Amino acid sequence: MKRIRLGVNIDHVATVRNARGESYPSPLRAAMLAQKNGADSVTIHLREDRRHINEFDLKKIINKLTIPLNLEIAATKEMLKIASRSKPPFICIVPEKRREITTEGGLNLNHNRNFLRVLIKKLKNKKSRISLFIEPSLKDLETANQLNADCVEIHTGKLCNLINKKRNYQNELKRIKKAVQTGNELGLEVHAGHGLTYDSARILSKIKGIQEFNIGHFLVGESIFEGMPTIIRKFKRILKS
Ligand code: PXP
Repeated sequence: MKRIRLGVNIDHVATVRNARGESYPSPLRAAMLAQKNGADSVTIHLREDRRHINEFDLKKIINKLTIPLNLEIAATKEMLKIASRSKPPFICIVPEKRREITTEGGLNLNHNRNFLRVLIKKLKNKKSRISLFIEPSLKDLETANQLNADCVEIHTGKLCNLINKKRNYQNELKRIKKAVQTGNELGLEVHAGHGLTYDSARILSKIKGIQEFNIGHFLVGESIFEGMPTIIRKFKRILKS
């Protein structure tokens, strides 16, 4: 039986907390609950503007969690410093624009390639597993491999939008399938994330070669109605079937 790991992104627990400037709901509590209910890793994105997770959350979560923490960061000197200090087991490098509502696309690997190379080397020296968040582009997979990343995470936002809008998603699905195959051939571990719901996770879980899914916004949203343990179990069942 295939074993696809589920990374639970808890950023939006912090979004709700920050909306009122209170100390609750607690991202640490969400991380521990996710761990207790079968998450394989917990993901947090420390943004430059700290709109959800902050460094205090990072410190508390990394100290308590026993499953791997996956820290998403932009490729900046500030984040390199923070990640070098906190040494999370997993790191995912993501693009970041201040005005975007969410991470809108994959990394531009041609921009600042030398800094990316240095960042990856330094963080790998600290024993972090490094993933690059990219579009399902064959060129980007080759570049990720040349940059010596351990993994790539394929941005699934476009596919998920098409599925949500009940539009034809076959071309985008083909593009993702090809990217997964190429990534595996290059020896990269391939992950998927962004915008995933039950429907899109079910469709993508049929592709052989995706080892990890990172899911946040929908999972936290549905948790309001049914509780996080139930939603995690539902996603785990989808990834197993
Ligand atoms: N993977 C990466 C690299 C991301 O940046 C994000 C969200 O920012 C996700 C997964 C999770 O996306 P969502 O919250 O839409 O499930």
